[in-house]
Amino acid sequence: MKQQVVFTHQFEQSLSETIAKCNPDKVFILADDTTAHVCYNRIKDFECLKGAQLITIPNSDIHKDLTSLTHVWTTLQTEKASRYSLLINLGGGMITDLGGFAAATFKRGIYFINVPTTLLAMVDASVGGKTGINFGGLKNEIGVFCHAETVIIDTTWLQTLDNENLLSGYAEMLKHGLITEKAALAPLLSFDTNIFNLQLLAEMLKESVEIKENIVEQDPHEKHIRKALNFGHTFGHSFEAWSMTRKPILHGYAVAFGIVCELFLSVIKQGFPTETMRKTVNFIKANYGDFLISCSDYDTLIDLMKHDKKNVNSTINFTLLQDLGKISINQTATDDEIKEALDFLREG
Ligand code: GLY
Repeated sequence: MKQQVVFTHQFEQSLSETIAKCNPDKVFILADDTTAHVCYNRIKDFECLKGAQLITIPNSDIHKDLTSLTHVWTTLQTEKASRYSLLINLGGGMITDLGGFAAATFKRGIYFINVPTTLLAMVDASVGGKTGINFGGLKNEIGVFCHAETVIIDTTWLQTLDNENLLSGYAEMLKHGLITEKAALAPLLSFDTNIFNLQLLAEMLKESVEIKENIVEQDPHEKHIRKALNFGHTFGHSFEAWSMTRKPILHGYAVAFGIVCELFLSVIKQGFPTETMRKTVNFIKANYGDFLISCSDYDTLIDLMKHDKKNVNSTINFTLLQDLGKISINQTATDDEIKEALDFLREG
């Protein structure tokens, strides 16, 4: 099934049409502390949201947990949501993940619409049907695959984001540019991130989402080719986890640094073209800066990679590239190769 993704600048009209299509008996809007102010206030007087009820949970990934989920379920129950009610998820990936899971499980599933308000959620989290929460100290440990009725993408929301958050989402766009055979990478590498021209970004974003949709359509449950979307994430997740106890970095920054390491492995193990790797790495270094690790951190990082849920039998699982769009899934690397990739990130 292909999920419906609507790109629009007539947000009210698109939302109204999507709600009408669902024909719900009640409408609920899920937001976090931030989007409840910054985003909900912009839409609360829409005619199509008359009578809709706002549910707010605390922001940030640490609240993508059972407590927030219980709050959503409890509110839906107390306010007498039925199987024909609709939940609109208004926010970043934390909201679309948790809200999607709440909707997919309440009374065995009610309608939900994703309205991503961050670049990261537009290009990745809100599209493709992954929903869930963190549990037992592990990210996205509990969840289901369930598509939103519709994902409504209006890049106007991006005006609320700072440059760091835009760059964080942009890293997933770079990933999409690398895992496709379409000529998507070159424009991404020549985009001026100091200006972030939203019109130009919107065009590249549309193509980027199509790349993801195309892969998800072929393998919705991540049994094979969807693993292409994990490119940059084996190192990336370990960087993100490592930084949590020091100076946390945004997800997309961890992915960008992960892309550097996994491009290095792609060159030495899969013959990925050095020239393309170099251009991409130069862009990442110029825009995302340095990731401050030293050799003494390598074992901890490798240990974190060994706990990644993509692994089978504790063997670290990588997605690597032979060339743009030429994916090699289920690849391994020795500890020495991983350390060389980390050296390359620090010095390359
Ligand atoms: N974020 C990767 C995926 O949706 O599969």
